[in-house]
Amino acid sequence: MTRRPFIAGNWKMHKGPVQADALAAELKRLLMDFTGVDLAVAPPYVSIPAVVARLKHSGIAVAGQDLHDQVQGAYTSAISGEMLVEAGCSHVIVGHSERRSLFGDTDEVVAAKLRAALRAGLSPILCVGETLAQRDAGRAHDVVTGQLALALAGLSPDQVLGITIAYEPVWAIGTGRTASPAQAQEMHATIRSWLSDRYPREVPATVRIQYGGSVKPGNARGLLSQPDIDGALVGGASLDATSFRDIVAAAG
Ligand code: PGA
Repeated sequence: MTRRPFIAGNWKMHKGPVQADALAAELKRLLMDFTGVDLAVAPPYVSIPAVVARLKHSGIAVAGQDLHDQVQGAYTSAISGEMLVEAGCSHVIVGHSERRSLFGDTDEVVAAKLRAALRAGLSPILCVGETLAQRDAGRAHDVVTGQLALALAGLSPDQVLGITIAYEPVWAIGTGRTASPAQAQEMHATIRSWLSDRYPREVPATVRIQYGGSVKPGNARGLLSQPDIDGALVGGASLDATSFRDIVAAAG
């Protein structure tokens, strides 16, 4: 079973509509030939319409960076999955470590958001990952599988099939420190075997597990050549079209 590589760029709080449109135009031009790789970008909410318009017919999907678990209501500043769909998104990032650590998204909140994404018909990218303290204490595997267990509890195999998992060790995000290909592969294999223990064979065989955390053109090939690393969730390096292209090229 070969899984198609999936590379997503998380622009975080960068690129308002004007700059986002320019970056999307460059990406559309540079990524035209990479038909063997699934691609997505996650701009800030206000830039989504510009990016959706620019990337029409490009094959590059547009993702939200987060969502609220309700459809609508008195939740000042929040955006629902249904709104993301209406704006042209097909994907959404759920449980990013910055949401967890800076905005207080607990495992419970992440689980609710994951369900909301599926309800809205979005393809979720579910982020999991341990902190440095947790890794140093030898708890990395327990933390990551614990996050998965809480997020996926009660979902059907069919629902889990629609999810991409992103393993993002918190200590590697935005720090320039990457997990080595062997360290990342080890965790990805753990995640896949955790899925194997709980779901029909099709699930671990099909679900893609992205690596995230300081992925750059220089380290992408080593990471993406690992058997259980099916793509990347790229932050900083996705803000430069050429760097993102080079990462995509390492997958294709
Ligand atoms: P980074 O971010 O590539 O800048 O480390 C990755 C992420 O947060 O998804």
